[in-house]
Amino acid sequence: MFTTRVTQLFGIKHPIICGGMQWVSRAELVAAVANAGAIGFLTALTHDTPEALRAEIRKTRALTDKPIGVNVTLMPTAKPVPIDAFFDVALGEGVDAIETSGRITEAQVARIKQGKAKHMHKVARVRDAVTAQRMGVDAVSIVGFECGGHPSMEQIGTVVLGPQTVDAVSIPVIVGGGFGDGRGLAMALAMGADGVLMGTRFMATRESLVHANIKEWMVQAKETDTAFIQASIRNPARVMRNKRAEQVMEMEAKGTTLEQLLPLISGLHGRKALTEGEIDAGTVACGQAVGFTRDVPTVKELVDRIVSDAEAMVKRVGAMAG
Ligand SMILES: Cc1cc2nc3c(=O)[nH]c(=O)nc-3n(C[C@H](O)[C@H](O)[C@H](O)COP(=O)(O)O)c2cc1C
Repeated sequence: MFTTRVTQLFGIKHPIICGGMQWVSRAELVAAVANAGAIGFLTALTHDTPEALRAEIRKTRALTDKPIGVNVTLMPTAKPVPIDAFFDVALGEGVDAIETSGRITEAQVARIKQGKAKHMHKVARVRDAVTAQRMGVDAVSIVGFECGGHPSMEQIGTVVLGPQTVDAVSIPVIVGGGFGDGRGLAMALAMGADGVLMGTRFMATRESLVHANIKEWMVQAKETDTAFIQASIRNPARVMRNKRAEQVMEMEAKGTTLEQLLPLISGLHGRKALTEGEIDAGTVACGQAVGFTRDVPTVKELVDRIVSDAEAMVKRVGAMAG
């Protein structure tokens, strides 16, 4: 058992956070993460309407009585998103935690503070962690270049960003990007962080509703099977290295425009890949932790394994120091 500022902040057993994953973090996965003693986040943007998010929160509540969260992603989108209404629903439903990512405003931080939810903001640069602390968030998560989703343009790895963020802020820090096993949790705590953030590893669990083809692809994939794309349009992303991602990389290498890329990188194609199992249908967020994703356990098996392996690792290193 590890007790940290993060377990205390969110009222959870283990300092493990499953970051919100669009299309992936559905009620079944988030409830399983909660029941395993960690915390997960439904994603508002998976839903077309605030009422659909409300229904998903209620569905999750029916599956667990443990703390749950909602992710509200504040990144540029092709079509307008009812962000304020998503916040109203999540806070009105009394969720325990809100994870934001992207460009947050003072007004949004103040709005979240009016509810009972603890607020974790996700950043990919140390200076943005400092800004988030100044704006008043309760905790900050920092993701390195290895992460699935959106690393920063600066391409700095987790091992460098984690300790620097811990040094730069006094609020709890959760470190993410490339974690997926007990060594990772031990490493995160040794960096001085209060918890670990994982997305990719939780995709390949039994309760994650992504198509079996995607899980099988992940089990077979190596650490080299992700691609860093979209830097040319200043919206960098790490994704599965499938045919679609390779096509995007080729276009970017030759020189391309946002208008030319949009039809390829549309989230709807990514959703098709994730839910229908057509691997090459779209670009799909996926981090380098896929390299050591070797099985598809239940969420509880995964969390228990991570915690007991981390405890063993801490003892091993402690014995060396002793
Ligand atoms: C399939 C997938 C979808 C994601 N969608 C989102 C999202 O909608 N919003 C967000 O803030 N982060 C998103 N992320 C990032 C995760 O919340 C988390 O920060 C990241 O996965 C941590 O790094 P890891 O992949 O190395 O574990 C996504 C990640 C994956 C793998």
